[in-house]
Formats: sequence, structure tokens, C-alpha cells
Amino acid sequence: MAVILCGLGGCLPPQAIDNQEISKGLDTTPEWIESRTGIRERRMVSAGIGVRELAIKAGARAIASAGGRRIDALVVATTSPERICPAVAPEVAARLELGDIAAYDMTSACSGFVYGLATAAGLIAAGIADTVLLIGAEAFTTFVNPHDRSTRPIFGDGAGAVVLRRGEAEEAGSLGCFDLGSDGGRSDLLAIPAGGSRQRGASGGLGHGNVAADEFFLHMEGRAVYEQAVARMAASAQAVLDRAQWSMEQVDWFVGHQANVRILQTVAFELGLEPEKVAVNIERLGNTLTASIPLLLNDLALRGDLQAGQRVLVSAFGAGLSWGSTVLRWPQLNTRDSEWQD
Ligand code: UT7
Repeated sequence: MAVILCGLGGCLPPQAIDNQEISKGLDTTPEWIESRTGIRERRMVSAGIGVRELAIKAGARAIASAGGRRIDALVVATTSPERICPAVAPEVAARLELGDIAAYDMTSACSGFVYGLATAAGLIAAGIADTVLLIGAEAFTTFVNPHDRSTRPIFGDGAGAVVLRRGEAEEAGSLGCFDLGSDGGRSDLLAIPAGGSRQRGASGGLGHGNVAADEFFLHMEGRAVYEQAVARMAASAQAVLDRAQWSMEQVDWFVGHQANVRILQTVAFELGLEPEKVAVNIERLGNTLTASIPLLLNDLALRGDLQAGQRVLVSAFGAGLSWGSTVLRWPQLNTRDSEWQD
């Protein structure tokens, strides 16, 4: 038994904001943003749009790419939930007319898509589902302080989705083993301090008035996160390659979470991977958290850069701290661009 990737889709909100525009009112420059992160523009949701609409469009496209295959379970990985309760996945399942299937959200920040792949693979391996739709969806720009130059330019919104089904190991699209890890001792390096149960107390939220507004936005110690990202992604990617018994030379593409182009280049250098094997689309989308890996796969597939049978190394790192890697043999897939309009 193996888990096969058989569908892929993405969705981006239509509004693109370039570095010139995002720099307005911030003590930064377009040049600083591009040279330190690799980002030139990002997409942002407009008022009233949350992850649900992005997830629905990405999910529908992934199902179409899988030839309209019946879905048994839906997992939505998100760091920017539509509402604190309930999960958005049941609403997405209903809007996609998937029937009364298992549908739930999961949170593992920027590693959420890799954790989601492992979760979906587990559902299939356990015989709970034959086919799983996994969506990484984010409207995280709504959780970023518009006045914080160290986080505001970095993040972007979007959703990416894959369909995974039960199959055989020799089939194209087969997912390999996983390496997953976490370090909660460093959780404060990247966190949204307020909005959860810790601040609500026994009064059930009535104490909110005492919490500074800034506490509801992301706080990030960029340099320390950067160093952890490089160390953890490089170690995790190497661990999964060892487990899969793939050599570095056999890897055709390194599809890493798009947080900073310099992180990706440094991880590749530490792994001894040729720079041209590092897949990048951060210049156009910024850091889209759980959506970044499927959106990047979609871009690569659409450009014709990903060929059936190629070996793909996937790795992610994010808040938690958390990280994860997996390997994948690329399948023959039809997909379409991730633009908003139908
Ligand atoms: O998605 C997974 C989690 N997130 C990440 O992996 C992000 C990891 N971190 C990074 O990508 C980088 O650390 C940043 C892009 C956030 C920052 O780049 P850096 O080269 O690591 O800068 P730094 O944090 O070391 O800061 C250097 C200087 C500081 O000024 P001082 O203390 O040297 O005077 C910052 O205040 O750059 C300053 N700075 C800025 N300057 C102009 C920070 N942000 C900006 C900005 N414009 N936007």
C-alpha cells in the first residue's frame, strides 16, 4: 500500500501588493525587503474574505485535477482560522458538496501542509479513508500588525490543495516516508500572544479589554527563527532522504516552505544540493504558510518544470517550533493556474 498524490490546485486572492505599496507608512524600503527576503509582491485578501473562500476554490480545482474523484475525508491545515470555533473544514466540505464526510482543521503553522500530508497518509493507511482532500489555506495577512515592518512585508494569502488516494508504491505520485519534529521550548519566537484561552481567563473573554491590541498580531524574533529554520530544515531533509534511501544527487527538486529565499539557499548549501534544484516562487507570493508548498508545486507543474517520475524533496519549518519533510515521486497531473477567477 502507498499514498498517491493524484490532484493539485491553488487559489490566490486577486489583490497583488508590491514592495513599493507595502513599504508605505513602514520604516523600510522595497530594496530592503527584496534583498533580505526575495519577496517582490504578495497577494492579500480583501475585507470580509477569510480562508473559507480560498480553500473552496483550491479544493475544487484539486478535485477537478484528480478527475472528479470521490473524496472520503477533508483536512484543512490553517494558521488563520475563519473563526476560532468551529473548524472551517465542514463548511468547505458542504460547499464542495462532498457529502457528510469526515472534515476537520489542523494547526501546525508553516509546517502544516507537511503535517497534513502525514495526517492524510495516516487516514489512508489506517483504512479510515481511501481518498483525502488536503487543503492548506491562509488569510494570515489579517493576523499581521500593519505597522510592524519586521512582519508586514513577509506574509501573503492563498490556498493550495492536493488529493491523495490509496495506491501502490511503484505508481507515479507515491509519497515516501516522513520526518516530523517540534521544539515547544522555543514557542515564543513566533507567536500570536492573545486571542486564545490563556488571555480569556474565568471571565470567558471579558478580560479582553485589558490586552493590548498588538498582542492579537504575530510577534516574531526574525533572526532566531531564521537560524532555527536553516538548522531544522536541513537536518529534517537529510533525515528523510536517509530514511527513503535517496541520495542528494537523485533529488530533482527541493520544494521548501517559502519563508525567505536566503533560508532556502542556505539549506540547499548545507545539504550539498545544486542551487538550480531549489524551487522558488516567494518573489510573487511571499510567505503563505500552509499554502506555500502546494502553491509552489502548482506553479512548477504549470510551468512544465516538474516532470512525471521526478524525485521531489519537500521540507517545511514554522511556529511551534515545528518542522517536517517528506519525499515524493511526481505524477502525471493536469492542473491550472491559481488565479481567483473561475
Ligand atoms: O514561515 C516560517 C517562519 N518565518 C521565517 O522563517 C522568517 C525567518 N526570518 C527571516 O526571514 C529574517 O530574519 C527577516 C526577513 C525577518 C529579517 O531579516 P534579517 O536579515 O534576519 O534581519 P534581522 O532580523 O537580523 O534585522 C537586521 C536589522 C535590524 O535592525 P538593527 O537591529 O540591526 O538596527 C532590524 O530592525 O534590520 C532591521 N529590519 C528592517 N529594516 C528595514 C527588520 N525588518 C526590517 C525592514 N526594513 N522591513
